[in-house]
Amino acid sequence: MSKTSRNRIRKAVFPVAGLGTRFLPATKAVPKEMLTVVDRPVIQHVVDEAREAGIEHFVFITGRGKAVIEDHFDIQFELDRTLAERNKTRELEALAKDLPAAGTTSFTRQQAPLGLGHAVWCARDIVGDEPFALLLPDMLHHGSPGAMKGMIEAYEETGGNIVAVYEVPDDQTHQYGIADVGQARGKAGNVFPINAMVEKPARGTAPSNLAISGRYILQPEIFGLLEKQERGAGGEIQLTDSMLTLARQQDFFAYRFDGDIYDCGMKTGFLMANVAYALSRPDIAAAFRADLDALMAKLKG
Ligand code: UTP
Repeated sequence: MSKTSRNRIRKAVFPVAGLGTRFLPATKAVPKEMLTVVDRPVIQHVVDEAREAGIEHFVFITGRGKAVIEDHFDIQFELDRTLAERNKTRELEALAKDLPAAGTTSFTRQQAPLGLGHAVWCARDIVGDEPFALLLPDMLHHGSPGAMKGMIEAYEETGGNIVAVYEVPDDQTHQYGIADVGQARGKAGNVFPINAMVEKPARGTAPSNLAISGRYILQPEIFGLLEKQERGAGGEIQLTDSMLTLARQQDFFAYRFDGDIYDCGMKTGFLMANVAYALSRPDIAAAFRADLDALMAKLKG
């Protein structure tokens, strides 16, 4: 294996150009990344995770109909002025806290949804020749510390490329990309060298129950591989295909995230995320739990 760069991870890429067909009709005019989990859009939760990890520059791969995501990360002048006039200091402070500093966001358009691999490739000029974080906004990783923070800490030890994984039940491994891993490393025993990655293994053949979860640290050599790549499964340019090629040249590690993961690209995952995030919010948890208990009792009764 060749030595790979150990530079600090400063930039994070968020691919948000997908069509969200599994969530129609909600996603006809509203990007699925703007659907709210409690009172924050899904994309804001994921940007929060990246900020907690020390990311300094946020790169969004957008498409037509997604301009509202850019607006969300800007000042809303009329709103700010009205809040100020009404002395709504707390709301103003909350908005200011979420606002990325000027010049720390970049938006580029994918133009056509040719697949996740193609979306990542669209970030090549903005990321440049340095390792970067990649966060799939659909997948909410709920836990403390956040998934990306843990991954960056692991990266400081390992270098190379890191893919987050989580344990799924053995009878569900055929639905996921699965990592074949070696002996655990790291202080917490949650970092493993990856021997292979298998996309949706046939039932009973999975090398482990560690599913790839949508958080990555990748070396910039991935861009050259994505550029040369033909369309793969589903006629799309697949990220996994280029990662498999890169894994022949560079180290890949799995970071096991031990928190909870919600697939907000799916209706049930999105609903569960809302319940879980609401129950972990000190300001509304007690009232929400009481309502939820009452609803469950009514449904059972
Ligand atoms: P998904 O396949 O989950 O998103 O891609 P999708 O295509 O929007 O969803 P469905 O299947 O139609 O419901 C994972 C991530 O990659 C992005 C998506 O926005 C999502 O965050 N993506 C996917 C792109 O940015 N471009 C693409 O061409 C495909």
